[in-house]
Formats: sequence, C-alpha cells, structure tokens
Amino acid sequence: MDLPFAERRLGAHEWRVGVAMNLSALGVAQLSWGGIAAGALWRWCSGPAFLVVWGDQSDNLWRSRGFGNGWTLGAAGRRLECLDGEFVRVGPNPKFAPVAGYHWFDGDGMIHGLRIKEGKATYVSRYVKTSRLKQEEFFGGSKFMKIGDLKGLFGLLMVNMQMLRAKLKVLDVSYGYGTDVVKVLEDGDLQTLGMLDYDKRLAHSFTAHPKVDPFTGEMFTFGYSHAPPYITYRVISKDGFMQDPVPITIPEPIMMHDFAITENYAIIMDLPLYFRPKEMVKDKKLIFTFDSTKKARFGVLPRYAKDELLIKWFDLPNCFIFHNANAWEEGDEVVLITCRLQNPDLDMVSGSVKEKLENFTNELYEMRFNMKTGLASQKKLSASAVDFPRVNESYTGRKQRFVYGTMLDSIAKVTGIIKFDLHAEPDSEKTKLEVGGNVQGIFDLGPGRFGSEAIFVPREPGITSEEDDGYLIFFVHDEASGKSAVNVIDAKTMSADPVAVVELPHRVPYGFHAFFVTEVSIFCFLQSLIQSNLKNRQSSEDVTAQVVEVEPERH
Ligand SMILES: [Fe+2]
Repeated sequence: MDLPFAERRLGAHEWRVGVAMNLSALGVAQLSWGGIAAGALWRWCSGPAFLVVWGDQSDNLWRSRGFGNGWTLGAAGRRLECLDGEFVRVGPNPKFAPVAGYHWFDGDGMIHGLRIKEGKATYVSRYVKTSRLKQEEFFGGSKFMKIGDLKGLFGLLMVNMQMLRAKLKVLDVSYGYGTDVVKVLEDGDLQTLGMLDYDKRLAHSFTAHPKVDPFTGEMFTFGYSHAPPYITYRVISKDGFMQDPVPITIPEPIMMHDFAITENYAIIMDLPLYFRPKEMVKDKKLIFTFDSTKKARFGVLPRYAKDELLIKWFDLPNCFIFHNANAWEEGDEVVLITCRLQNPDLDMVSGSVKEKLENFTNELYEMRFNMKTGLASQKKLSASAVDFPRVNESYTGRKQRFVYGTMLDSIAKVTGIIKFDLHAEPDSEKTKLEVGGNVQGIFDLGPGRFGSEAIFVPREPGITSEEDDGYLIFFVHDEASGKSAVNVIDAKTMSADPVAVVELPHRVPYGFHAFFVTEVSIFCFLQSLIQSNLKNRQSSEDVTAQVVEVEPERH
C-alpha cells in the first residue's frame, strides 16, 4: 500500500512529525496546514497542521518505504560548506489508513531533516508525536476523523462518531489548542518536546503560517473555527507572552490558511471557501465548499489592535488564497504579494486525482488596499501555476524585491523553482511560466522529477547584503529512479548547475512547508523554550532536557 506524502515505517524508531489537528467541541477539524510554519516553528513553536489526502492507495508516489534514521551522507555535494544548520520540511504522513477518503490535508506530520555541518550532511525523518498520533498508536488504527472522511452522509456519521467517542472518553480531543514543539538536536535528530499553549492563553486553533517580524522579534498569528468567533487574531511578544485574543467578525465560517503583516497592519483574508456541513451531506461534497459567487474580502487591521473596531474591509473579485509571499506599506496603500487561485476545488486537489484540473489557475498577484480611499485593486504578475511563495524573511512586512515560488503541474506536483523580480514588469503576452519579464530565473527539475517548497537561506543574515544573495534549498524526487535528493542552488543566478546535491538513502515523499534552521537558531531556540513556556510541559517520554550548545559557525 502506497500513500501520497506518506512514509511507511520499517524500523524500530517510530516518530511522526507533527501535524496537530485541532478539534472543536463538535469534533470538527479546524485546519491549518503544515507542521512547519514559516520559520516560526523553530523559533517559538510549531504550527498545528493538517494535511494529506487519502484515496487511491495503490499507486501513490507520495510515500516512501524507508525511514531516515540518521544516515550520515558525507560530503555529498560540492560547496555544501556554504550552509551550516538543518533544512527541515514537513509532510503529511498518515500512519494508519483512514476510514474513508484520503486527502492531503489529513495525516500525521513527519519532518524530514538534513543536518549540514562542516560540509557533511545527515538525513533524518521523524514524526511529530502529537497527542492524536499517540492515541491512534494505542488503538492501532485510525480513530480520529479526517478531512477525507468528511464527505456526504458518511461525513456526518464520522462527526457524530467522534463526538460520541469524545463523550465516552474513548478519545481525548482536548489537546488541540496548542502547538507541538519540535527540537532540533545538535546531531540533526528531531525531538518532539510537547504542547505549547502559552500558559493556557491559547484556546483556539493556531495557523501554520504565523509571521515573525524580523525587526521586533514579535510573532503574529491567528486561528479559525467553525463556531464564532470564526477568526481570532493574536500577538505574541518577543519574550513569548501571548496577548489577549482579538476576535474578528466575518459572516460565515471559512478556511483561512494564511495571512500577512506589514510594519503597522495585519491582513485578514475572508475568502469564500466555506465550512458548510449541510452541503457536505446534501451534495456529497467535502465539508469545505468554494462559493464562486462571493467576493474575496480582505481586512486590514492595525497590528496591535485590542479589538476589531479599526479594521478596514476591502472587496476584490472572487478567489481563494493558500499562501502569501509578503506585504508592506507604500504611502496610503497596503500591498500584498500573493498566490491567487481561481476556482479551487479541494476535492480535486486531494492527492488521489490524476486527471488534469480544468478551469484552475494559481497565479502570482499584487493586491493593493488604499487605507484613505477604501479602494482595492489587483494586478496579475504571472501565468499559472505558482504557489509556496517565499522571500528573504529578513524583509517580512517590509518592501522587498524577489519572490521564490514553486511551479506546479496540473495535479499540483512541483516541477521547478521560479524567481520573480517585483521591480520588473510582467510579460502579459506569456501564457506559461517562462524566463523574461518579471521572471528572472527558473530552475527546471527535469522530466519525471518533482520537488517541494524552496527556502531562501541568506549568505549573511539581515539586510546589509543584497536581498537575493543566498541559496535556495529543497527536496527533489526522481520518479524514474526512485531516488530523492536535497538540492542547493544559487538564488542570485538561478543557475541550472546546483551549488550542491545531496543524494538521500531512500525516497522522501512529497510534502509541504520547509524551513532552514541555522546554528544560531538551534541554540537560541533551545534556550528560550526550555527557559520559558515549556519548562513544565515536557513529557518525560519525549524529553531528555539536554540543551546542546552549538557554536555558531559561518563560512
Ligand atoms: Fe501552508
């Protein structure tokens, strides 16, 4: 049995990386992607996640049969010395077969890590040991309802089944309000420390896409729910204190996957992917339904607001957005760079559908919200399909120039890495993604080779060097040979000749978000977490509580 994204365990070491699924009182999943949340994971905490799609289990290339268990790979690439730290990427890796459907947005989170030190690399993959995973391990099977289950009448049955199990205390669904924290050990291994709930101040779901302001060190985040308040905005101080919740009023419960910050604002996205259980039953749809008749609404909120009184809402044409690249302020305007989807269908983008998606586009866009006039506008910046946009995170919330995205094929596999120059005009004549106009470079993975999100790692931290002076690092899988690798390429030149290629001992399944943990981050993260929020919450099973000091090294 092969599962997309998933990795079958063979060894005695059975860890799963963290996808924590937050469950509401009704037992309905509140979703937020990707165990690894945009850089924040190792600094503060991990985002709760959900992912993966079940379905056809017979022909799935998203799953591997090995388990990374600390293989030292040696000096497998030339000039690997340019990076010191650990490249990590999460994927949804369901340990147990789902009861019904399979969807990318389900699954237990697994982190694949490549530790790089002094030109040598070590690969490891570990589950995030969430409460849900531990409970299902106890029962030896899938017990919690999954997104793929929530379809039609059966979905309703699954909701009720989970409510009953919770009531009878067969399942503990109370753990959901927190984020699992994973520690990167000095030797590259990954260790789940436990749940972080900010001294019980966190009582709602926590996005996988919090934003850390590189200038203030604060974290900004949100959660969404099927029950009011449908969105809750939060600010976490530099020293880890979570401020009071700011409920945001929107008409209906939605899936809100990402948001954005600027120096003074947070951008809330009320997009018409609705949580509609009645339609799930009536129309045999997934519980989240896209309504193409509704406008896309963007709320710009002063980022230290104590309530929603000062939020300004803007309307733009119907769309959905999974991921934003960045946002900033220009005069009276707030600018958002984002990947805009037309006609998303979660049922089709499920990992089990092989046919071409029709009427589906995913393009880079610039959106502008004028705080004085109340008017919004948008401009298309690319052909389809682009997603997983990343930037040099030293510029989060500030005006910047370069965006690095993934190029997606018709069933959302990553075929290449693309670099956009926001200072250049897009070539409106182009109907596909090609170099020219604002596309400064493309790294094509080649036939039969597919990748995942590329992370920009600056050669030097901060904003003193050129914005694109650094590397892009990402996983690649060759479906013909069955082999996987980590590629490091030059972000400035986007040369087809990689800086380094580290071949891996087994296939790494496709996955979602990634992050590069520097030596300095590893040390600072361990210090701050163990000294603060986690000190009383580490499970004795998971934690050796040994802080390994790592000397920062730069080349
Ligand atoms: Fe995401």
